[in-house]
Amino acid sequence: MNKNQKIQNHTKKKTMISMRIPDEMIEQLREIAQEKGDLGYQQLIKNYIQSGLQGEPSLTDGKSPLTQINNRKDPQNIQSSNDQRTLEINPLTKFDPPKTALKPRKKKATSFTDSKIIAEDIQNLAGNIKDLYSFFEGKTFLITGAFGFLGRYLVFLLKYLNEEILEKKASALLLDNFVTGYEQRVLSDENLHFYRHDVVKPFSTDQPMDYIIHAAGIASPVYYTKYPIETMDVGTIGTRNALELARSKNVSSFLFTSSSEVYGDPDAKHVPTKETYNGNVSILGSRSCYDESKRFGETMCVTYWKVFNTPVKIVRPFNVYGPGIRPDDYRVLPNFIEHALRKEPLPIHGPGHNTRSFCYINDAIEALLRVLFSDANGEAFNIGNPGPEISVKDLASMVAEFMPHQVDVVHIDPPHAVYASADPKRRCPDISKIQSVTDYEPRYSLEEGLVRTIKWFQES
Ligand SMILES: NC(=O)c1ccc[n+]([C@@H]2O[C@H](COP(=O)([O-])OP(=O)(O)OC[C@H]3O[C@@H](n4cnc5c(N)ncnc54)[C@H](O)[C@@H]3O)[C@@H](O)[C@H]2O)c1
Repeated sequence: MNKNQKIQNHTKKKTMISMRIPDEMIEQLREIAQEKGDLGYQQLIKNYIQSGLQGEPSLTDGKSPLTQINNRKDPQNIQSSNDQRTLEINPLTKFDPPKTALKPRKKKATSFTDSKIIAEDIQNLAGNIKDLYSFFEGKTFLITGAFGFLGRYLVFLLKYLNEEILEKKASALLLDNFVTGYEQRVLSDENLHFYRHDVVKPFSTDQPMDYIIHAAGIASPVYYTKYPIETMDVGTIGTRNALELARSKNVSSFLFTSSSEVYGDPDAKHVPTKETYNGNVSILGSRSCYDESKRFGETMCVTYWKVFNTPVKIVRPFNVYGPGIRPDDYRVLPNFIEHALRKEPLPIHGPGHNTRSFCYINDAIEALLRVLFSDANGEAFNIGNPGPEISVKDLASMVAEFMPHQVDVVHIDPPHAVYASADPKRRCPDISKIQSVTDYEPRYSLEEGLVRTIKWFQES
């Protein structure tokens, strides 16, 4: 049975209850959400569903768990602690993480570092990149966004390689300002040094530098709606600062994590999407602060290659998921899993016909490293897993199928323009370019990746 048939069977086996919220109720919820913030809408929907449709939830009684999230707070100065050194004397910047309506279920603070499933992933990842070990021996890395979802896998991989594999240990400078970080336990040892730093401020170091991975970014629509200026800054000024360091240090390779969002909303004939497609991106739309900053970031990278010979590479990830992803950042897969584990209906925007192609974190990290260590300077590569391109509705069925209990779905109006008209209809990468340059081959099926991710969500 092929993957698509399996997905269809998942859908058939279980009766999904689809609940339609009356239009007048939607209007009422919208008004409240406008006042209280977009994420509030999600919480209101949840309240509404939980109330079992028996009576309208009390939306304005002042007891709502909603908090105002639209006010951008001024950056606050913070103290740096002993193991969180700073790169410059200027006061550092910390942003309060947004107060999201969907609070993650209680997980231990150590859920990343102590996770069996992540430890197994890192071991497997290390096993799959044996041919790349020589690139790590005795080398110095700088990783921005080091305590984000992708960054932490990279950090833990470096730690594992140092402990188990490498004769000459790799060292790394790890930068993050935790604008979207919520698990603030950081890893810092004699080889891996953490610095709390906003990369929008220029940074430098006396150390020699071999490789820079610029992974800092504000990737979730929930966060870039809340922090649009910071989103543009990290993709543009932050990228420029990282490129400057790469140029001055004469690095062996520089990698920019761009995004599949540079393609905007491709028409059907450009799906699966090739790197040669120039995109269909709204300049003024609700996603443009993210999309356009990544596009300009790419332009800067390729210009540094042309003008300064800085050996840049660009990757465009397509919907990476896996253990360690934030349960509460409203990206579709963690959002479904989190709802399912809470035995709450899975909220599908509209009919759920939009499609996505999901790439398991280990595959994404392997692809990223294969590009970093390649000779493909000045080039951009899709990284992802084209199979299957799955509709959001079928994805919900699949997540429901993996749960030990009955899980329903509910079709809701998208809570915000980023999820409504601006939401790309289809996402599927053509990965023939990376495959022609490296040995990259996705190893994890969506089923396997989902099972691993759900296990991680359940681990604590
Ligand atoms: N995960 C995906 O599916 C995906 C898809 C496309 C592109 N990307 C890109 O890949 C990169 C990594 O993605 P992720 O999923 O790990 O995101 P993430 O949000 O989990 O991690 C990004 C990290 O960057 C940090 N950061 C943001 N602005 C910063 C700043 N000014 N200074 C220092 N640190 C800053 C955040 O605090 C966070 O820890 C991002 O640039 C993202 O845009 C990710």
